[in-house]
Amino acid sequence: MVPGAVERQAFAEELAVDAGMLALSYRDQGDLEVRYKGVLDWVTEADIATERLIRERISAVYPDDQILGEEGDSDEQPARAAGYTWVVDPIDGTTCFVSGLPSWCVSIACVDDKGDPFLGVIRDPTGKETFSALVGHGVTINGLGVAVANKGIADGLVGVGHPRNSPDQPTLAFLSALFGMGGLFYNSGSAALSLAYVAVGRLVGFYESDLRAWDALAGEVLIRESGGWSTEFMRDMSMTTSKPVLAANRGAASALWDIAADSLKDCDPPGRGSHQ
Ligand code: IPD
Ligand code: CA
Ligand code: CA
Repeated sequence: MVPGAVERQAFAEELAVDAGMLALSYRDQGDLEVRYKGVLDWVTEADIATERLIRERISAVYPDDQILGEEGDSDEQPARAAGYTWVVDPIDGTTCFVSGLPSWCVSIACVDDKGDPFLGVIRDPTGKETFSALVGHGVTINGLGVAVANKGIADGLVGVGHPRNSPDQPTLAFLSALFGMGGLFYNSGSAALSLAYVAVGRLVGFYESDLRAWDALAGEVLIRESGGWSTEFMRDMSMTTSKPVLAANRGAASALWDIAADSLKDCDPPGRGSHQ
């Protein structure tokens, strides 16, 4: 167990709630200033201010830690874990946030000096839910433990995200195979929130062909702690390369692996790997 891990989790939970309130306050003011990073790839003043708040609060309490965030200056971002690294997405689901849809979240993970993510907190400010996990301590929603039943593909929806600036083919192939197995998909518009939903059993799985560490790491800890299965983002020890991500309820893991395996060539299948 990482020293001080319980305190870090409590700190991250409080920080995620405060960051969510700040983002909400921007949205409620209306007239958000939106910049376009690419097609349907937006950043608002709320994303920037919320990440600034998160960075300031982490640096004040954990001055020796590194911080990797979506809106950070790329020259200063840590590429690999050294000491503890906080990995943050101030608003995951900015397209939903800007469109007035409820599905967006604040995502905070912490990675240890060996590159192992050990803490994940995802805050849904609209639904007022905090999904939180610390390795060895299980998953909570607003502090209450969650038990997750085994579910197969036919027992619910599979989250599928599509990365705007990546090829369509892997997503189309996954959807086509999913339909072929009688499955249905759901796109919340927030990869991190979808992963939290897999962890607590609301979705039976989630696939996206190209995600960043700040989209994936907090959800990966939640899923691991809920007894689910997911690919390991830190498999190449790099925090700054983007990768495909598959996560699943144990009951759906093998079937989803089979239909996504072509795009997951560098990953361990369910039943193998360091966190099985
Ligand atoms: C995006 C969301 C979206 C996913 C994209 C991500 P952002 O993050 O998670 O659901 O499909 O690939 O980039 O830009 O809203 O932080
Ligand atoms: Ca994101
Ligand atoms: Ca973001």
